[in-house]
This record gives sequence, C-alpha cells and structure tokens, in this order.
Amino acid sequence: MDLGIKGKVALVTAASRGLGWAVAKRLSMEGAIVAICARSKERIEEAAEKIRKLTGGKIAAFVADVTDYTAVKEMVRNIVTEYNSLDILICNAGGPPPGMHHEFTIEDYRAAIELNLFSTINLCYESLPYMKEKKWGRIVAITSVAAKQPIDNLILSNTARAGVLGFIKTISNQVASLGITANCVCPGYTKTERVEELAKKFVVDGKGSEEDFYDRLIATIPAGRIGTPDEFAQTVAFLVSEGAGYINGVALQIDGGFYRGII
Ligand SMILES: NC(=O)c1ccc[n+]([C@@H]2O[C@H](COP(=O)([O-])OP(=O)(O)OC[C@H]3O[C@@H](n4cnc5c(N)ncnc54)[C@H](OP(=O)(O)O)[C@@H]3O)[C@@H](O)[C@H]2O)c1
Repeated sequence: MDLGIKGKVALVTAASRGLGWAVAKRLSMEGAIVAICARSKERIEEAAEKIRKLTGGKIAAFVADVTDYTAVKEMVRNIVTEYNSLDILICNAGGPPPGMHHEFTIEDYRAAIELNLFSTINLCYESLPYMKEKKWGRIVAITSVAAKQPIDNLILSNTARAGVLGFIKTISNQVASLGITANCVCPGYTKTERVEELAKKFVVDGKGSEEDFYDRLIATIPAGRIGTPDEFAQTVAFLVSEGAGYINGVALQIDGGFYRGII
C-alpha cells in the first residue's frame, strides 16, 4: 500500500530511541524526508545513522529539547530552510516519572506539563504556518492511554496528557478545512528501551523477576501481550498518509485493548 508520503518532509521529535525512532524509521521506509531530534547529540546522530543504513533515506538529526520554545523554533526554521517544507509533524517527548499525588512538588507538575503539553504547543505553533501555506499537513501527537484512562501511579502523565487531547482536538477543528489533520495516538504498553529499563528496575528493587514484571502488565491487556514499536509506527504512518485525510480529531488507542471505555 502506497501511503503517498514520498518526498514529504516529516519532523519526529524525541526520536533517538523507542516509539519516536520506530516512527521515524517507518516514515523513512515510506520515502519521507525525516528530521529527528532529542537532547543528546551523540544518541540522536547514532539513531539517524541507524535509520540511514536501514532505509537509505534522507535523515537530518537535530539536538533540541522540545520543552525549549526557542530551540523548537530554530529547529523548525532550519528544517524549512533546508527542505523548503514541513508537511508531517509527530509530537513526542519523554515521559514524566511515576508516582502518586502527594509525592510530587508543584514544580514537578509544572515540569510534566512543560514536557508533555507545552512541547506539543511549541511544535504545533511553529509548524502549522508552513502547513497552512501549503494547504496540506498531518499532525500526530503521541500521548498515552493514561490520557483516556488515568493510571493510579501516573498522576503527572495523566494530567499533562489529557491537556494534549484538548489542545489537538481544538486545533483539528480549526485547520481541517485547510487540508490539515491533527490526531492523537494513545500507546498502551509497548516494548521500548524504557519499558525494558523498568523491567530491570523491578528486579533491582527486589519486586520479582523480569517475567513477573511482564506478567503483571500482560494481565491487564486483552491481547495478552505487550505491543511492538513497529506496530505502533505502522499505525502512525497510516494516520499521516494521503489516504487518512478524513481522519481528524481522533485520539486513537494502540494498546491491545487495555483501554476499557467505548468512546
Ligand atoms: N513505551 C510505552 O509503553 C509507552 C506507553 C505509553 C506512553 N508512552 C509515552 O510515549 C513517549 C515515548 O515513549 P518511549 O517508550 O519511546 O520512551 P523512551 O524509550 O524513554 O524514549 C524517549 C525519547 O525521547 C527523547 N527525549 C526525552 N525528553 C526529551 C525532550 N525534552 N526533548 C527532546 N527529546 C526528548 C529521548 O532522548 P534524549 O534523552 O537524548 O533527549 C529518547 O529519544 C513517552 O512520553 C512515553 O511516556 C510510552
């Protein structure tokens, strides 16, 4: 299936590993020109090289913290100067730490909102003018199932990501007539390096084996398994395709059925 994105210019943030990297690789496989960013220069350059080797595509690596509006602005301008366009934006960032309400300071809440909500606002604010000019664009914000079904020990994530759903839904209403779609994807448990690190920490904390860790997660997932980054990436790639032009304003779980609601 041709997704119709050959030659389109895509920015995937927080992409030196995990979900961001998998999406960047998949878009490159589909023929898009892909810019990726993260905070560590070494890791983002390695990640770009890895994709280049796998796909032979054009990949640009940027060092940028997505919570830093000035850095985001500069990165977007550099992409447009180099490639004359910015057609596809995948908003992603790291996740805030787990914990309960009383374990965090007000500053922790502020930092989580900067990380997951403001990063999305920064990226959309800077990218949308170019999409509006071309009358074509695709925005996908990576959030979490926690935005739809709050998870008890993830209060920072639950709070910040629900804001992303509200922001992206509003944007989607305002840009749809210009050929731009804006959607959220809500990953459930997906086997990225981050989840592997959590499994190792579970063992170090004396809570059980890695197998116990995965068994506990899997018990909550109707599919009976953890998702793979590539399954996630293929869904995102479809959402930014030409053929998905009438999918707008949705918040789509990619979670093996973890989310128990019906809307
Ligand atoms: N994997 C899952 O099961 C799952 C489930 C639900 C939601 N999520 C969410 O989906 C997102 C991606 O998850 P993941 O598992 O792929 O995470 P991950 O493996 O921890 O990767 C995070 C990536 O983000 C970059 N990053 C972190 N903070 C950044 C910032 N401020 N600016 C720019 N880049 C930044 C990291 O590189 P640097 O450190 O070099 O910046 C790294 O490349 C996270 O928000 C996570 O909470 C994941």
